[in-house]
Amino acid sequence: MKLILMGGPGAGKGTQARRIAEKYGIPQLSTGDMLRAAVKAGTEVGLKAKAAMESGSLVTDDIVVGIISDRIQEDDCKGGFILDGFPRTVEQAKALTKMLKKRDLKIDFVIDITADDEELVGRITGRSTCSKCGEGYHTMFKKSSKEGICDKCGGELTTRADDNEETVRNRLGVYHEQTAPVLGYYGKKGALKEVNGMLAMDEVFNALCTILG
Ligand code: AP5
Repeated sequence: MKLILMGGPGAGKGTQARRIAEKYGIPQLSTGDMLRAAVKAGTEVGLKAKAAMESGSLVTDDIVVGIISDRIQEDDCKGGFILDGFPRTVEQAKALTKMLKKRDLKIDFVIDITADDEELVGRITGRSTCSKCGEGYHTMFKKSSKEGICDKCGGELTTRADDNEETVRNRLGVYHEQTAPVLGYYGKKGALKEVNGMLAMDEVFNALCTILG
């Protein structure tokens, strides 16, 4: 199963991708996570991506296409994968179609998780993530039982550098301008489905599983 999860910043792509990965046994490929790891490690890619990420702009297409092209050739992607945060421009979507076609593959599902902009701002400004296992938390919607500590693995919870209101509003603008056209690209191919991301996390997950079967 090869799946793309679309949606604005904070729509729940990461939350749902982790749950789908667990249930279906396929990896979550998050370009955001991969880029943050590169920034932290100070690699060449990380150095190039840092400024764009901190301001909420997009990293260049050649960088993210290169990352995904390498990643989907790894062994754990043989049975499928979940793309979380990629493609984010029509150019990236075209590059993905091309790289899969070369290997006689195609995307099975493109699902857009929809939510209102103001809800997304609220979700992102209350978010924290486990520095060890990546589990996501929220000050209102999903609290950890012990403040600042992950329920799953005991790791320390951290806040992302781009999770402040000003940057989130910029990320939303970028989403509407540059990423929303990707929905049109897949819509024309008849591959696009929609799930209401305003519902509670479990309900969103059930709706996704109904589509995936
Ligand atoms: P990325 O890491 O992909 O960030 P994003 O798209 O802004 O998405 P988020 O991770 O912020 O949100 P999410 O949808 O995963 O929501 P989550 O599940 O965490 O990208 C970061 C940056 O990297 C970009 O700005 C760009 O610079 C660069 N980049 C990445 N990919 C790129 C690409 N392809 N091309 C170019 N540049 C790229 O949920 C959010 C919060 O809400 C959590 O606290 C969660 O607990 C809560 N929540 C989730 N669902 C619900 C619900 N149903 N109800 C209530 N709360 C909920």
